[in-house]
Amino acid sequence: MRILVSGGAGYIGSHTTLQLIAAGHDGVIVDDFRRSKRSVVARLDALAGRSIEVHEVDLTDLAATDALVSAGGFDAVVHFAGLKAVGESVEKPLDYYSNNLGSTLSLLAAMSRHGVPKFVFSSSATVYGENAPVPMREDFPTSATNPYGWTKVMQEQILRDAAVADPSLRVALLRYFNPVGAHASGTIGEDPSGIPNNLMPLIAQVAVGRRDKLLIYGDDYPTPDGTGRRDYLHVEDLAAGHVAALDRLGTTDVTVSTWNLGTGTPTSVREVVDAFSRACGHELPVEVAPRRAGDVAESYADPSRAEAELGWRADRTIDQMCEDTWRWQSQNPDGYPDAPSGSSSDLR
Ligand code: UFG
Repeated sequence: MRILVSGGAGYIGSHTTLQLIAAGHDGVIVDDFRRSKRSVVARLDALAGRSIEVHEVDLTDLAATDALVSAGGFDAVVHFAGLKAVGESVEKPLDYYSNNLGSTLSLLAAMSRHGVPKFVFSSSATVYGENAPVPMREDFPTSATNPYGWTKVMQEQILRDAAVADPSLRVALLRYFNPVGAHASGTIGEDPSGIPNNLMPLIAQVAVGRRDKLLIYGDDYPTPDGTGRRDYLHVEDLAAGHVAALDRLGTTDVTVSTWNLGTGTPTSVREVVDAFSRACGHELPVEVAPRRAGDVAESYADPSRAEAELGWRADRTIDQMCEDTWRWQSQNPDGYPDAPSGSSSDLR
């Protein structure tokens, strides 16, 4: 299949593009490079062993998106592109709604006009809201506690409605838990812009000396060691889930399929810190701080539907996740280099 990967230069998008290519698909990247680096592309080319087609387009631009899809001959769209910082979404809700909803709307309009039948969407466990019991199942009600989360809930609804209106559309709503880790080469990985929001990139930056210490947000949760527990899954397992979902969309009669992508096994903050210390070979300075507003004690998936319907499981261990994150971070302490000015010629 020829597959348009929106946000393909980003963290999960880059790993997924490579796996799509390895599976024999033609993965084409569209990215606006606002939160990703152009230097990712050369590294992806090296890993893929060929030159990957890349388009620089703002997907909220309906005409530009339509032109891209019109000329592309795509069989499917995998839509990663979007803003994803919870705190920023509270400060700039309109940016989040217009960007995240706008890009999905223009992709859907263009796909409808040009007959692209499959859509795989990057959703999130955030759609289970604040008080969901664990493990979380796909049939739980959805809600949100911040604008970022609402954009995921709303985009899921937009996709369901689009599939009612066009029964030939096949949609996968993939609800990610906590993606971490990096490609085994250490040449691509997570490179958050600004101060990271998430645990793993923060630990990695402490380990490499970019920050003094990790703050543990609360050690008085009702969990075995008092720290929050999450369902961390390796980004390579997550990428494989997209390949499996795309395959499944080719055979299913179900118009909209929802799959949790997680391991089903929770790991505490202290357990992640310990695993990372083993991976990097030294102790990491930590300090216990008050709970972070909006955090829950535990969040983890019931991944049995994805296992039954996709034949997919996230098997890589927390030690592998930390080892691969450390290889990436230690080889690229400051993340990806900025492309030298005038180097947009590496965009095709
Ligand atoms: N944590 C710390 N210190 C830090 C950062 C995080 O102790 O400096 C803890 C948090 O309290 C939590 C755990 O590490 O217990 C994981 O925190 P993350 O921010 O990495 O992940 P969250 O589970 O809080 O958030 C993730 C996604 C969000 C999404 C949310 C719910 O990043 O986009 O899951 O699905 F909204």
